[in-house]
Amino acid sequence: MGLVSMKRMLLDAADGGYAVGQFNLTNMEFAQSILQAAQEKRSPVILGVSEAYVPYMGGLPCIAGMVRALIDHYGVTVPVALHLDHGSSFDICLRALHAGFTSVMIDASGLPLERNIELTSRVAQAAHALGATVEAELGRIAGREDELVVDEAEVMYAVPDECVRLARETGIDCLAPALGSVHGPYRGQPRLGFGRMEDIRRLTGLPLALHGGSGLPDDEIREAIVRGTRKINVNTDNQAAFTAAIRRYLNEHPDAYDPRHYLSEAAKAVQACVRTKIELFGCAGKAGEHTR
Ligand code: 13P
Repeated sequence: MGLVSMKRMLLDAADGGYAVGQFNLTNMEFAQSILQAAQEKRSPVILGVSEAYVPYMGGLPCIAGMVRALIDHYGVTVPVALHLDHGSSFDICLRALHAGFTSVMIDASGLPLERNIELTSRVAQAAHALGATVEAELGRIAGREDELVVDEAEVMYAVPDECVRLARETGIDCLAPALGSVHGPYRGQPRLGFGRMEDIRRLTGLPLALHGGSGLPDDEIREAIVRGTRKINVNTDNQAAFTAAIRRYLNEHPDAYDPRHYLSEAAKAVQACVRTKIELFGCAGKAGEHTR
């Protein structure tokens, strides 16, 4: 199966009461590991690429081409969406769609509501004309997503009435309301706004995305799914597993020099992490239920 749009995946997840994992890419080993884990678990999967990682990975056409080639190479048959994470402008979203991404997030959450609505609407119109899916954000999620840094003083929980306006006036397919989750490691006990999450899901009727999926206790993840979360973003846990495996390998093999040896260990660690998340999110075995 080639790349598919994320919308159908999330609607199926809503019907089935589970969430689909968005696993962010850092390099080719991440893409290989995530695709293989999803295939093994018969799970739909979303490959996320943060705007800040695009230059590091050789640009949008290179990333889309690599992902398509790997899908062919591994004979991946589960549904895979390729999603731009935290796109900051109309231009980057359009360039991602033209490169073959099947989904984009326009993150205009740092703008006043009216301007967020205006920019998100333009992106949604363009993306829908190309058969792609759009995610938008309201409120401010704390933490660091590479160059995107939101400190604790700037954190804002999403306001349900504003979410309803954003949903109605833009036609987006998925909403990421900031409700206390954090990009990167959590400091202290996470406190997600579950009541508000459920209100926002009910009032907007949209599948919700939970950013900052790393480091959250399993019961918070399960509770978020019960309250309407259909997409869970994970980056830091995979990066930490990747780096720890390299560190371990090099400590044990101080004379190693062939990168394939330590990168294969790192890739195995990412695969194991993704398999565990897929089980936790309830999407294992759900690939066959994809109805598009
Ligand atoms: P973590 O790095 O905390 O898993 O967050 C990932 C994310 O939300 C990407 O948008």
